[in-house]
Amino acid sequence: MSDETLSNLSTETRRFEPPAELAANANVKAEAYDRAEADREAFWAEQAERLDWDQKWDRVLDWDDPPFAKWFVGGRINAAYNCVDRHVEAGKGDKVAIHWVGEPEDDTREITYADLKDQVCQAANALIELGVETGDRVAIYLPMIPETVVAMLACARIGAPHTVVFGGFSADALANRVADCEAKVIITADGGYRRGAPSALKPAVDEAVGKAADLGQKVDKVLVVRRTGQDVAWDEGRDVWWHDSVEKASTEHACEFFDSEHPLYVMYTSGTTGKPKGILHTTGGYLVGTSYTHWAVFDLKADTDVYWCTADVGWVTGHSYMVYGPLSNAVTQVVYEGTPDSPHKGRWWEIIQTYGVTIFYTAPTAIRTFMKWGSDIPAKFDLSSIRVLGSVGEPINPEAYVWYRATIGGDRVPVVDTWWQTETGQIMISPLPGVTAGKPGSAMKALPGIGADVVNDEGEPVPDGSGGFLVLTKPWPAMLRTLWGDDERFKETYWTRFADQGFYFAGDGAKKDEDGDLWLLGRVDDVMNVSGHRLSTTEIESALVSHPKVAEAAVVGAADETTGQAVCAFVILRESAVEEADEPGEGADLVQELRNHVQKEIGAIAKPRQIMIVPELPKTRSGKIMRRLLKDVAEHREVGDVTTLADSTVMDLIKDKEGSGAGSED
Ligand code: WTA
Repeated sequence: MSDETLSNLSTETRRFEPPAELAANANVKAEAYDRAEADREAFWAEQAERLDWDQKWDRVLDWDDPPFAKWFVGGRINAAYNCVDRHVEAGKGDKVAIHWVGEPEDDTREITYADLKDQVCQAANALIELGVETGDRVAIYLPMIPETVVAMLACARIGAPHTVVFGGFSADALANRVADCEAKVIITADGGYRRGAPSALKPAVDEAVGKAADLGQKVDKVLVVRRTGQDVAWDEGRDVWWHDSVEKASTEHACEFFDSEHPLYVMYTSGTTGKPKGILHTTGGYLVGTSYTHWAVFDLKADTDVYWCTADVGWVTGHSYMVYGPLSNAVTQVVYEGTPDSPHKGRWWEIIQTYGVTIFYTAPTAIRTFMKWGSDIPAKFDLSSIRVLGSVGEPINPEAYVWYRATIGGDRVPVVDTWWQTETGQIMISPLPGVTAGKPGSAMKALPGIGADVVNDEGEPVPDGSGGFLVLTKPWPAMLRTLWGDDERFKETYWTRFADQGFYFAGDGAKKDEDGDLWLLGRVDDVMNVSGHRLSTTEIESALVSHPKVAEAAVVGAADETTGQAVCAFVILRESAVEEADEPGEGADLVQELRNHVQKEIGAIAKPRQIMIVPELPKTRSGKIMRRLLKDVAEHREVGDVTTLADSTVMDLIKDKEGSGAGSED
């Protein structure tokens, strides 16, 4: 990907001007950049006026003790009130908030803002009844159903930070997260629909509760939504049905307003060590950042637009651009439960046609999949309602960008390639659809009010035309405040590398082109990006090594046409297992066993595409695994410089294995 992007940089001359009408009526015009630059804090204070505060702040930013920021200091606010109640009070109670589309056909629900308010109040009352108090953490492990949005907002309403765990994660991953943030309550469902069949969630929760207890965290209550009607094991003292509690609770709940810096949620994301990081977001600044960027980047016209973000709520995109940003802006949006090919490969385009979606936000990996399936599929549907297209999660290669714009956008609508992270909370680098002449493959410029640059090893800005590390040079409202329970790791991970300059180190490589526009080049650390999901090489290595037959493992992200990167593992077996693997036919079984083991430990998303059983791993004299060389093998390239290896013959042994087909792919 980065190589392709780099080489395209020199040849990419295509430019797409904003459509004239969109530019003329754009929410944000070019003047915003200078205005924000002249007085950043005044700019963000102006954006904070978008929200309803019970009490206004007396200081916009407290950056006296970096890197610990406080935004809108002294302000009091409730996120759920801003996403729901105030719209009802403004007379928009009958407006559809969510067109919900279940995966089984004709399984749909329309939820108005008035409905949402009632349901959020009911859930808030039910959570209080279950013993949840302000400040308590609540874990949410749910499919893409309306109750998920309701559960998140109910937590926000009572000031109980939520931690949503992606439904594709395993019981172990859930248990680790529950234990790390000490959640007393888990909200889940019997299951959800994926790829045309019900897929269970509750058994993983039952297992996770036991594992969390082993880790010292007792889960008191499990609140269960009935979605699929699957049989579930039931613990009378612990488990409570959503329909017996939430749906029977009062729809009246007077909300309390919390300090602007009150924790809103913890979202776990992969870092460079085996232990996921709990990214902490707080209330006021986060809501300002997501609300403003959602309105600015998508040129949102809330009265007429129909918005759809396809991200799963288990990731930050689902938090910022399905829940908090859009709902604080009173949008009408689509939420879809399932996969794009159920029951047919045109399902997404059919949904766009049915609901008249005008703003569509998805990931490059999905776009590349649709390219593979063929343009004739979207061509069968009327997509003329679309006026803005967005992309997020990984670098979008120019060909995918151009296909997206042409095939889904009818060659008329702008594509906004939005760069941001779980840590940033809000979009940071992106074109503005009414201002920017887009270049395919470039995220272009930092948004108004945001400071970004590309620097060399010494932290000095590189000149136009050169590459380096992406840094964020100024604090921003939705920035992470710390890592849950680990201030030291927070400082170390993001603020040490360029401590002298006070820059935030994003972990991404980037290049400035001759015009100073930014091209993102992927991670510079041991974090992979598979289908827009962040995975840690170390975490998968630990999972592999926890298998009794494995002595050592090294994992790399190898370029993959569809998923961006794919997980490739190199494994050294324990002596006892080597003989077994050498038996004819047994090697493949063992590889399968190891792949399943990773799925069990972390989740299906982390399952290696390929595992190669090798006799040695390439290491430097100091014992560090040289993943660069393994990446060459995984990407079928000539292996690079081996002179720093302790034993330079190792690579020949590995390549021999590759030739003999000891790998597995499916
Ligand atoms: C990558 C997802 C290039 C990047 C919102 C970042 C991107 C990581 C883009 C964060 C983009 C995200 N262009 N790369 N438009 N968007 N990334 O935390 O490597 O899941 O550091 O947040 O995804 O992933 P995360």
